[in-house]
Amino acid sequence: MRIVLGIESSCDETAAALVTSERVILAQRIASQDDVHRPYGGVVPEIAARAHAERLAPMIEATLADAGMTLDQVDAIAATAGPGLIGGVMVGLVTAKALAMASDKPLIAINHLEGHALSPRLADENLAYPYLLLLVSGGHCQILLVEGVGKFRRLATTIDDALGEAFDKSAKVLGLGYPGGPALERLALQGDPKKIPLPRPLVGSGEPHFSFAGLKSAVLRAKQAMPQRVQGCVAGSVIEPAYTDADIAASFQQSAIACLLDRTRRALSAVGPVNALVVAGGVAANTAIRTALEGLAADHDLPFIAPPLALCTDNAAMIAWAGLERLEQGQSDPLDVAARPRWPL
Ligand code: KG4
Ligand code: ZN
Repeated sequence: MRIVLGIESSCDETAAALVTSERVILAQRIASQDDVHRPYGGVVPEIAARAHAERLAPMIEATLADAGMTLDQVDAIAATAGPGLIGGVMVGLVTAKALAMASDKPLIAINHLEGHALSPRLADENLAYPYLLLLVSGGHCQILLVEGVGKFRRLATTIDDALGEAFDKSAKVLGLGYPGGPALERLALQGDPKKIPLPRPLVGSGEPHFSFAGLKSAVLRAKQAMPQRVQGCVAGSVIEPAYTDADIAASFQQSAIACLLDRTRRALSAVGPVNALVVAGGVAANTAIRTALEGLAADHDLPFIAPPLALCTDNAAMIAWAGLERLEQGQSDPLDVAARPRWPL
């Protein structure tokens, strides 16, 4: 059995985890910076990097203590080396380099997207390559054929916004604050998805990609055009607006789901046989999206696999797991490996 320490710091989550090759998460800690960034309505890279620098080293110490371990008992140290906000990535990677050097253990530089892409295999030991992966997060929206460690074929990507970004920006328009995705999903539960016809960019198109900018702009227009609640003629009565924020949220989510289903259906018909339809990334925490994809997988007689919610959003267990998969193949990286703000799979 091997044990890898994973470190994640590419966006606004500082995280450390110890994971075994037998898929056991021995300990994991995660500190969200939501409170730090909320006043700005989004992640401020410089502030994020400083927060990672303050929190990461004590967090790693605490994670080792939670598992009753010392660094000597770890087989390798894996850290996100990109893509992401470069200041934060550097904090995590440099910390991992220092630990690797001090303990004389291998360093493994992980692509954050590979962490998301392989996380379903941490949760499900029966998930074998190849599988079709819908990777939906704040920074990415892609369909990938995952054929092995480091073996990805990108079938589709977004030509403008990532889906999580569209969720977050639409949530902001609706005054839901930051982070917006989960809040928008909650609001959508109270709305009528048929109230407002919102666009479904590229649905039915012959090209494979995603686009969400038009949908996001339509949310803004719907909000701006929303009639106010007005006083009726009869004393004390009010005339309700024709639609509510919840209707906008529900209509947005329904359009987004229609796009995901259409594009994923197209990708499934374009690839050869796969073992499963898999969803990963922060937006995969959305229950309505999971349910819709589950139906699509069933239509294609495929198992549908989504990691548990805690493994969907950014975390260090997925980075440790990607490290374990690389370690099993005898891979590691030199101490001068570079942090990469951009790093396509
Ligand atoms: O993977 P992740 O934690 O960070 C990135 O690598 O981007 O994804 C974060 C994104 C954010 O845009 C967030 O709003 C979105 O995932 N998200 C959701 C939900 N939970 C998180 N979007 C829709 N519904 C949710 N329940
Ligand atoms: Zn992520």
